Amino acid sequence: MSYIEVNHSSKRYQMGETTVSANEDVNFSVEKGELVIILGSSGAGKSTLLNILGGMDTNDEGEVLIDGKDIATLNSHERTEYRRHDIGFVFQFYNLVGNLTAKENVELASELVDDAMDPVQILEEVGLGDRVNNFPAQLSGGEQQRVSIARAVAKKPKLLLCDEPTGALDYNTGKQVLQILQDQARQEGTTVIIVTHNGALAPIADRVIRMRDATVSDIELNDNPQDIATLEY
Ligand SMILES: Nc1ncnc2c1ncn2[C@@H]1O[C@H](COP(=O)(O)OP(=O)(O)OP(=O)(O)O)[C@@H](O)[C@H]1O
Ligand SMILES: [Mg+2]
Repeated sequence: MSYIEVNHSSKRYQMGETTVSANEDVNFSVEKGELVIILGSSGAGKSTLLNILGGMDTNDEGEVLIDGKDIATLNSHERTEYRRHDIGFVFQFYNLVGNLTAKENVELASELVDDAMDPVQILEEVGLGDRVNNFPAQLSGGEQQRVSIARAVAKKPKLLLCDEPTGALDYNTGKQVLQILQDQARQEGTTVIIVTHNGALAPIADRVIRMRDATVSDIELNDNPQDIATLEY
């Protein structure tokens, strides 16, 4: 059995008279420790899928098996526990708390679990050892995104979910952030899923899942994913 198995998952939104199908009969699997890229144009259903995988939202139909357990059947308390212990989230616009320092932002997450990483140590690992006492407004976009990755990985999540993590960053800063995410999969064995509309990132992934019109249109496996250092996009 694969680490993640999504079987016939659908999610619909009711908008007055009309029903919007955000995910329709989505099927795929992911192995533990893979770096996965979910590609698709705007409105294809990528964020909907990521939010369901992370227990931030629930589907209407189908199975979402994570480590053999169907998270689609969890009640809201169980879903909160699942999010707290198993999931790290990285967002396009960082979602840091503005009146807390970098270290305090990471502590928000590390305080949630028993065996968290040391906040300062993880900030050092993402290259921000000299910025731990800075507030988000005193950091560049790339630095803020690295704080948000530190916050997401401090809990040692099994699954790291990233929604357009480089969407607001320039080319070189985006590459730094992708390198940290690839290292997290390679060195820590974390399963990392990155949502993007940038097809040029596909070569760095172990698995590329393409979405179109609310469903999976294609799945591709890379036997030799490219190192980010050599990627041009
Ligand atoms: N809360 C909601 N209420 C109604 N419709 C929604 C809601 N969330 C998403 N949708 C619709 O579901 C579809 C899929 O949205 P989703 O956000 O998953 O797309 P996406 O692939 O992440 O797009 P983008 O690349 O623009 O972020 C879209 O048509 C969207 O309008
Ligand atoms: Mg989205």
